[in-house]
Amino acid sequence: MSTFQAPKGTYDLIPPQSAVHLKVREAFAAPLKAAGYGYIETPAFEDVALFSRGVGESTDIVTKEMYVFETKGGTRLALRPEGTASTVRAVLEAGLHKAGNLPVKVWYSGSQYRYERPQKGRYRHFWQVGAEAVGAEDPALDAEMIIMADDAYKSLGLRQYRILLNSLGDKECRPAYRTALQEFLRGLDLDEETRRRIEINPLRVLDDKRAEVQKQLTGAPLMRDHLCEACKAYHEQVRELLTAAGVAFEDDDRLVRGLDYYTRTTFEFVHGGLGSQSAVGGGGRYDGLSEMIGGPALPSVGWALGVDRTVLALEAEGIELDLPAATQVYAVPLGDEARRRLFGLVTELRREGVATDFAFGGKGMKNAMKSANRSGARFALIAGERDLAEGVVQVKDLESGEQGPVALDAVVAELRARLA
Ligand code: HAM
Repeated sequence: MSTFQAPKGTYDLIPPQSAVHLKVREAFAAPLKAAGYGYIETPAFEDVALFSRGVGESTDIVTKEMYVFETKGGTRLALRPEGTASTVRAVLEAGLHKAGNLPVKVWYSGSQYRYERPQKGRYRHFWQVGAEAVGAEDPALDAEMIIMADDAYKSLGLRQYRILLNSLGDKECRPAYRTALQEFLRGLDLDEETRRRIEINPLRVLDDKRAEVQKQLTGAPLMRDHLCEACKAYHEQVRELLTAAGVAFEDDDRLVRGLDYYTRTTFEFVHGGLGSQSAVGGGGRYDGLSEMIGGPALPSVGWALGVDRTVLALEAEGIELDLPAATQVYAVPLGDEARRRLFGLVTELRREGVATDFAFGGKGMKNAMKSANRSGARFALIAGERDLAEGVVQVKDLESGEQGPVALDAVVAELRARLA
């Protein structure tokens, strides 16, 4: 071990486990590509004010969890804690919303940074695949989002997750609800910090995990009973479209998300095998975010799915993904001439799309065969001087142990055929 370790709350993605992460990212991206979402990448850091205005001054993310630093030029930047604010910033900056084709549909894949208390499933550096549809108000778009995520989780074989759905209302009906909720909460027996929260962000109090708080919340006014007609109708349509698509969801009046930009539809995918960090993905509609960061009104909806937690969910369900073998053929040369000839074959095989590796480092036969077995390859290619003189290489099936000579100029086609 070296003197250094990965920083607290982070871990290294290393083979072979890293292949599972890549596969999960691919599974998340597949439905997006099928639905017209284009790939977007934004910097890992942004002006700190983008997040304080976008995600919200009173959120845990902004008050406690951001990695903020000052550049030598005196600019205050933050490592991105999430991808939505950056994405909308980039869409506005490039003027994509003016190209006349709304919604602008984009997806991203990248690491996010939150200075949280680390525990299983909660890291300071984690990976999200996200999707944002910017500039359209249409219940079908909200439904599309939820259906895509559901399809992605299903394609991985996950079963033990639930979809929680709620509506947080809009600027017409939420203020009155907020006031009603504040009045109710002020009458409860709560500690100082929670009392402060009532004044800044009362909805978050509903999300308090402590039993003594939850106990007092029975009878709290619910957004559901305060939704205006437009929000009610909108939400009903989202629900109908999901039902028609065969997506099973649960109405959850208490679902409050940890980011301030949400309006109307909010949802979370929670998995039963993960303990307290059960949300494997979440999102919702954010009709006011563009304006909060200085853009025009652009009603939008999106989600981000957590790659790390999804990998944990796969483990919890005992699901082994069908991963392609990292190495299909492993070449073992005996002697210098064989090294030259086999290395040539290795390059040829690779160019033909066969995953091939080579016994590097001048290993002896015994060691090289051990490496061949460890590599997971199906076939070993072995050649010594005598084989070359006869114009052949030995092809060994590492599963059955069978071995036989194949002509040098036929071996690439032969291996491709046997692997097909
Ligand atoms: P979020 O709920 O904060 O939403 O994060 C989405 C997902 O990222 C979570 O459900 C979880 O799986 C994963 N995640 C969050 N924090 C951590 C952590 N510390 N360690 C491991 N995984 C974590 C957002 O980020 C919004 N930007 C989603 C969105 C997009 N809303 C609209 N568009």
